[in-house]
Amino acid sequence: MSNEPLYNAIQSFYHRFLPFFKQNELSLVFTDERGKILFSKLLQQDNPAITSEKIFHLIPEDFLLQKQKIPDNTNQVFKGKIVNPELLDSLINWYYLVKPIQNNQGDILGFLFIFTTEQEFSQLLTSLIQPFANIIEEDVQNKELQMNLNISKDFFEIISKNSQDGILYLDKYAKVKYMNEMAGEILHVNPQQSIGQYVGNIVDFEPVILSVFKTKKGYVDREFIIHSPNWGTLHFIKTAIIVKDDCGHFAGVVDFFREISRVRKFVTSYIGAQAKFCFNDIIGDNKQLRECIRISRLAARSNSNVLILGETGTGKEMIAQAIHYEGNRRDGPFVTINCGAIPRELAESELFGYEPGSFTGADKKGRPGKFELAHGGTLFLDEIGELPLTLQMKLLRVIQERQIMRIGGIRQISFNVRIIAASNKDLQKEVQQGRFRNDLYHRINVIRINLPSLRNRKEDIPLLIDHLNRKLSNKLERDMPLISSSFVNPLLKYEFPGNVRELENIIERALNLCENNIINSQYLPKEIFDTQFIVEPSSMEENKRQHILNILAQTDWNLTKAAYKLNLSRPTLYHYLKKWNLSKQNYYTR
Ligand SMILES: Nc1ncnc2c1ncn2[C@@H]1O[C@H](COP(=O)(O)OP(=O)(O)OP(=O)(O)O)[C@@H](O)[C@H]1O
Ligand SMILES: [Mg+2]
Repeated sequence: MSNEPLYNAIQSFYHRFLPFFKQNELSLVFTDERGKILFSKLLQQDNPAITSEKIFHLIPEDFLLQKQKIPDNTNQVFKGKIVNPELLDSLINWYYLVKPIQNNQGDILGFLFIFTTEQEFSQLLTSLIQPFANIIEEDVQNKELQMNLNISKDFFEIISKNSQDGILYLDKYAKVKYMNEMAGEILHVNPQQSIGQYVGNIVDFEPVILSVFKTKKGYVDREFIIHSPNWGTLHFIKTAIIVKDDCGHFAGVVDFFREISRVRKFVTSYIGAQAKFCFNDIIGDNKQLRECIRISRLAARSNSNVLILGETGTGKEMIAQAIHYEGNRRDGPFVTINCGAIPRELAESELFGYEPGSFTGADKKGRPGKFELAHGGTLFLDEIGELPLTLQMKLLRVIQERQIMRIGGIRQISFNVRIIAASNKDLQKEVQQGRFRNDLYHRINVIRINLPSLRNRKEDIPLLIDHLNRKLSNKLERDMPLISSSFVNPLLKYEFPGNVRELENIIERALNLCENNIINSQYLPKEIFDTQFIVEPSSMEENKRQHILNILAQTDWNLTKAAYKLNLSRPTLYHYLKKWNLSKQNYYTR
């Protein structure tokens, strides 16, 4: 602890009692708790013979032994006479009194010495030194209190001013004791004018915090969606803390609340729901592909819905990400939902979220759906053709109204989301066959991008091989090998049912197998030479089915391995197996 409060207290004490000390010819020394002189006023001018070292010997050992603390009831005044000239020759035969100065915890802060030549007077001083010490002690304590108060005040101001949470302190009658600026901003009220007012009178809705006054139980991170007639939906995460008085009685509530937009922003950055691709990552000189990129660049500048069509592995997700990344929503989330991979019964809650306890198996706390999570950004509805018809209807309504209602909820939640949908199905055909709603098709088909399959842009294969070789060598942290024409030529004839993703897998496999610096035909997978496979499949769907079957056969129906090779998630693979009624047994007994 610094000696400053003590030193200041001594100064003011001395000036206050100067006439008394002068009149009675008293000398005065103050030391810190180890006897170092902080202040000394001696009658015989400043006498160099008085040093900290010498004064130290006048401090009774008891005080030093007890180091810091002295119980209240001990006799705290020590009296003596200086008889040893070696000690303090200039004050020989003087009488002295020593009194420790303590703080209110009983710690010794220093010592007060008073010297006098008069023995009688030294008796009188015994009763005076105690109140003197008290005056100094009180002063020190006040100064320390003031210092702590200032620290608390600064600390409190820093927290409440800079907090991105609204902070509201209500007394036991639910009247506002304190409100920070952020709370005022979130609740649309003036913090200063709210002080002393009943919380129900300052907002235009029934404050949810009032429930805490009934239950007397706080909570942590609870979500609330409130409708304010003047300000619309207020949506935040709240923590309520019960305040108790010294007797343990309920004395009020401190309420912290955070706007959901901040929570979402945090979640987005935390789970990495960010687009990673930009247009420069999309490789190819093919005319149709360049046209797709040109339209996509235009799409990035607008907010219109986009529909991306193309076979599996043609780069639909890449394009969707690039549109997000190079548009004005780039700082917002990029949220993907694979409509084909989520079980039918969960699809609705995934999209729209649910309120607490709305269906069995639902999380107790309730959860936001992808639409809410994508607020301010882009929602990528992948494989939209797989969405069940009933959900298509709900989706259409949500896209039109720009509002969602969680399952089991009673309030509409507005959102601002750009929608990009993708499908590897011919959606127009799906519409004709009654599997996809016409109105939804038109709603999402504002800007359409038709990605060419790799077999229709074979001229890009060498370019892609080169790009993927560089990209994947980098990823695998190895030197980039040379690629021989014996590796490239068969690929130029191959049909690529899995498109660029399949090419990517072929190259990654070769990079893993190749131990020297040249990749040649020996590192190509068997199916490239499998003429049967090159036979043009009748449809994209059949094409995909064949490819999946092939990989399953290669992996002996190990679904984890197959899913990895196919670059699909396991649920997606399951989905296809179910859809086409594929199983190991069926396969071998065909
Ligand atoms: N033009 C391209 N240039 C570079 N890489 C590409 C290109 N097109 C696709 N890819 C790569 O191929 C892989 C598959 O792309 P993406 O996931 O975008 O395909 P998709 O059309 O969404 O496929 P699916 O329908 O199976 O989901 C990605 O790893 C991507 O990097
Ligand atoms: Mg995809």
